[in-house]
Amino acid sequence: MELEQYGHGGDLRSAKETYGRNEDAFIDFSSNMNPLGPPDVIQHKLAEYVNHIFRYPDPISRELRKSLALAYGVPEECILVGNGAAECIDLAARVWKPRLAGLARPCFSEYEEAISKAGGAEYTIPLKEENQFRLQITDLQAALDQCDTICLGHPNNPTGTLLAKPCLDLLKESGCRVILDEAFLDFIEEDSELSLIQHAAQSLSCIVIRSMTKFYSVPGIRIGFAVAHPDTIEAMRALQIPWSVNSLAQQLGPALLSDSEFTVRTRQWLQQEKEWFTAQLSQLGLKVYPSATNFLLFALPQGTSYTVGRLQHELGLNGILIRDGSRFPGLDNTFGRLAIRLRKDNELLLKAVYRCLHGPQC
Ligand SMILES: Cc1ncc(COP(=O)(O)O)c(C=O)c1O
Repeated sequence: MELEQYGHGGDLRSAKETYGRNEDAFIDFSSNMNPLGPPDVIQHKLAEYVNHIFRYPDPISRELRKSLALAYGVPEECILVGNGAAECIDLAARVWKPRLAGLARPCFSEYEEAISKAGGAEYTIPLKEENQFRLQITDLQAALDQCDTICLGHPNNPTGTLLAKPCLDLLKESGCRVILDEAFLDFIEEDSELSLIQHAAQSLSCIVIRSMTKFYSVPGIRIGFAVAHPDTIEAMRALQIPWSVNSLAQQLGPALLSDSEFTVRTRQWLQQEKEWFTAQLSQLGLKVYPSATNFLLFALPQGTSYTVGRLQHELGLNGILIRDGSRFPGLDNTFGRLAIRLRKDNELLLKAVYRCLHGPQC
């Protein structure tokens, strides 16, 4: 059995089959959930929900779209709610059917999946270690010269990097179709200044995708949405299966969005914990790349024969899950990715990594 056999982190059933522990006996650094969540507001909604399961969900998620429109300042017609951001990525690829789509690698695997299912080919825009994996404008320009679509994470997963303003401006001005995945942007204080949501609502060549599962820590309840021109949204809706967004997601969404205290608390916590965790990991000899969001890409010390695959396995035996970077095309087996969790979990990880790298045995 393999931990990442289905291509993603957070696969606790595969972890159970691999390491023989119960799912709740793992500390999961392999999926990037907000450890402060889910917010308390969902308790009351969950209790109430039993009265709704005998009805079909609203096929067009009216209430949730209304709340999202208010929260993000765009018309409701510009919003499509999906069964997680993953469904929105798939719909974006299917509605545009790219011939050649530029992907900045390493990146989230679903971009490639969605594009290839839609019949498109991929063009790799390299993110280079010497640039700390930041997209270079010359590489973006070269991709725009060749591709009919560009699909990027903002911030990008697994590197945690944001796009520099000149790259964002170039994307907006180029006229090339852009699918921008902002699944982790809500962790960042400057979310509204950095987001292309407003642009997407007016442009026929931009789809912005957002997730609510990471920030609110509700991945089991799938909630994501796309923002685009009403014509694009209508075409995406036509491809969506009926009732794909269940009524629990539709009821929780507005309640989660209204919890502004949770947003403030999360951003404050992340700023402090990221700084501390980065410093501690660096002291262990790991190279930690600057991340704008709630996960960290790291590299093992140069010249070591140890691999992150081995580290992942040894930590897994000890009930700790991390991502093996070599699963992302563009990275090798010296790279890994860690979610930032609460202090006590982060301390356990640091001790376990120390034992693996420097101890007599893990
Ligand atoms: C960059 C990125 N985008 C989108 C998603 C999918 O999010 P959701 O759970 O909303 O489908 C993920 C999930 O890991 C992700 O890492």
